[in-house]
Amino acid sequence: MRTAKNYVFLINSFYSIFIRSLNSFIMKFFLDTANLDQIKEAIDLGILDGVTTNPSLMAKEGISGEKNIISHYKKICKIVEGDVSAEVIATDFKGMISEGEKLADLADNIVVKIPMIKDGIKAISYFSEKGINTNCTLVFSAGQAILAAKAGATYLSPFVGRVDDISWDGIKLIEEIVSIYSIQGYATEVLAASIRTPLHIVQAAKAGADVVTCPLSSILGLLNHPLTDIGLAKFLEDHAKANK
Ligand code: E4P
Repeated sequence: MRTAKNYVFLINSFYSIFIRSLNSFIMKFFLDTANLDQIKEAIDLGILDGVTTNPSLMAKEGISGEKNIISHYKKICKIVEGDVSAEVIATDFKGMISEGEKLADLADNIVVKIPMIKDGIKAISYFSEKGINTNCTLVFSAGQAILAAKAGATYLSPFVGRVDDISWDGIKLIEEIVSIYSIQGYATEVLAASIRTPLHIVQAAKAGADVVTCPLSSILGLLNHPLTDIGLAKFLEDHAKANK
């Protein structure tokens, strides 16, 4: 009897390990904002895996000055369980290291976001050796993606929407990078950024992105279908008629 119980326990454990390993291939949803209310709304939906910010998003929320910026990052990190990308402002190696180390000290879930420039690659290599997570941002080509992965970036952010803005194909770029990373076995996660529409989210999932970071409006847009609204109205109407 005891042995049977042990077998059940063992099978359950293997099953849970198996499911967890499958989950690591499921596309994560990050919110691309510094707005605390929107972050809370996504948490309430039960679908939030992390947050990405950038200097423009912080400015949009009226957050300025080092003290306020630091305190805002702390607030975000406190409510979000997953990774929170905080971008450095410096563009030279020393500056990026000093800023990035300060940011990394704020919370365990901080990911230092670094631009795709020469000193940025140096900084990513440095942080990678120190075991500090990084997100290489402003990525627009497969070549840049290879360099960032080689330097040991944790995440790579190709900007889908901004590529589309100049009439190239942002999703094709995601497909190309996902394919290269899988051929080469790079551990860097492809984080589809600059997402503008619900369709971008669907396409990023089809392209095999590891993460998608998007505005709340794009996530909520995934809910919409007129047949759902029509169907629900009919169900409620029929129920009301039968229960008069
Ligand atoms: C996030 O990591 C990027 O900074 C962001 O997605 C850029 O989005 P945008 O092109 O809409 O400004």
